[in-house]
Amino acid sequence: MPSLNWIGKEAVVNHDKEVPFKLLKKVKTASVGENSQNLIIHGDNLEALKALMPFYAGKIKCIYIDPPYNTGNESWIYNDKVNSPKIKQWLGKVVGRESEDLTRHDKWLCMMYPRLKLLRDLLSEDGVLFVSIDDNEQHNLRSILDDIFVQNNFVNNIIWQKKYSPQNDAKYFSDMHDFILVYAKHKNKGTELRGWLRNLISRTEEQNARYKNPDNDLRGLWKSSDLSVKTYSKNYDYPITTPSGRIVNPPQGRCWRTSKENLKNLIEDKRVWFGPKGDGVPSIKRFLSEVQDGIVPVTLWLREEVGDNQEARQELKDLFKDVEFPFETPKPLRLIKRIIEIATKDGDIILDSFAGSGTTAHAVIDLNKEKGENRKFIMIEMENDVAKDITAERVKRAIKKYDYQDGFEFCELDKPLFDENGHIEETCDFKQFATYIYFTETQTNIDPKKIDINFIGENGSIEYYLIYKGKNKNDLEKSFLKKIRKTEYKKIIYADRCLIDEETLIKHNIVFKQIPYEVKVY
Ligand SMILES: C[S@@+](CC[C@H](N)C(=O)[O-])C[C@H]1O[C@@H](n2cnc3c(N)ncnc32)[C@H](O)[C@@H]1O
Repeated sequence: MPSLNWIGKEAVVNHDKEVPFKLLKKVKTASVGENSQNLIIHGDNLEALKALMPFYAGKIKCIYIDPPYNTGNESWIYNDKVNSPKIKQWLGKVVGRESEDLTRHDKWLCMMYPRLKLLRDLLSEDGVLFVSIDDNEQHNLRSILDDIFVQNNFVNNIIWQKKYSPQNDAKYFSDMHDFILVYAKHKNKGTELRGWLRNLISRTEEQNARYKNPDNDLRGLWKSSDLSVKTYSKNYDYPITTPSGRIVNPPQGRCWRTSKENLKNLIEDKRVWFGPKGDGVPSIKRFLSEVQDGIVPVTLWLREEVGDNQEARQELKDLFKDVEFPFETPKPLRLIKRIIEIATKDGDIILDSFAGSGTTAHAVIDLNKEKGENRKFIMIEMENDVAKDITAERVKRAIKKYDYQDGFEFCELDKPLFDENGHIEETCDFKQFATYIYFTETQTNIDPKKIDINFIGENGSIEYYLIYKGKNKNDLEKSFLKKIRKTEYKKIIYADRCLIDEETLIKHNIVFKQIPYEVKVY
């Protein structure tokens, strides 16, 4: 498969593995309520996604991101040229001196690649990614997503009409749409059902209103559908006599969709409509009760159905009457609600790692309220001026507006789990460290309910233990043997020192791993 190359690629393709694990610190004063399982994280999403990994790897059902499009605009509240001080510093560190020669497109690709890799790892096996983008980077984004998600998992490229009025001063064409690229973690093949399955879109009142019942049919509301089709077959080209005696032939070049014999059955079953006077061109009745419980999504999303940029700005203004321009580039609520409706069900987690004004969290709240369901959200925003005052503030205001039962935890990225010398951060508690150890060993998330003093969980036929009471207190001593489970399973025990002889370890099927040197990296 062809693969895209750019300056700096080598330095970033496996960079996700080098990102240090940081701890998350809850900021109580910026949070709303307790134990909601909704999160807003302030920080660079590269570090934030890594920090989420021990808790959420393989658990996110839907990721929607709206990254900077790389338009070159540097005057917005965030930088749309991959040139913010934080990202510049990061590029310098990761890509090195070469980073000074990068074009704006190289920089964007360097920024996106490791973040998309982490996002993929966070998705559940039946999860899906939606990415908003425009022509500045659409082609590059598609190439790297083909690389990371594998081309076969590309689902669609949706066109979203973002504007109503054309720009008459446009040099070539007036740009009226954005793209939304859709990739499943796994697309289902054949009858296999482990991958993503899309939901239908709920019918709107307006769509249902097209169903009427002019002949008072006892089967309920119906709408007429063309009886003729384009694919011509001589056998299906025959005259039909209406109840009033008029002879009707299919339109030029077309034929009827059914045979003469079957049409007779349909007429007997009162499924053919000849108009109120019985002399019209025949059509087929489609009963509302017989159509699917929703509509198959199409790839063209018009502003009338999902809103446009103007609607999005108005929605934000309505919530922030006290702030003049809270955020320049929000997305409309109806757009994100449609994505969430297609991609998720009650109880699923939705992640947005370029949160901006927090539309995704607002859309989750709105949809939950509308359907009486309980999806969860995780939002990440890097900019200091945005995360608390706009992202979190919008969600707070939405919670109030909808009288929503849940809140969210606002978190800052804390210190790395290990310092530069590889020593574990002193503020890290047993549960946090256990979560990390269990994840790096098993690539799955710990079940906190299973933690039993030093036992932190099992996976396959291996049990994991952690001795971690504080600096210089973490010895694996003979007395610990009484605490391990009496099973045949191999036991991996993490501690600072091992004071048990090799023979005894073998006898009890124990593998000692020294903190921090033998703690795996992910
Ligand atoms: C296009 S805006 C998203 C708008 C959002 N969809 C909405 O409806 O408001 C992109 C956002 O991503 C943020 N961002 C850019 N790079 C980031 C990073 N590395 N980590 C976290 N957030 C980042 C920017 O600060 C900006 O707020």
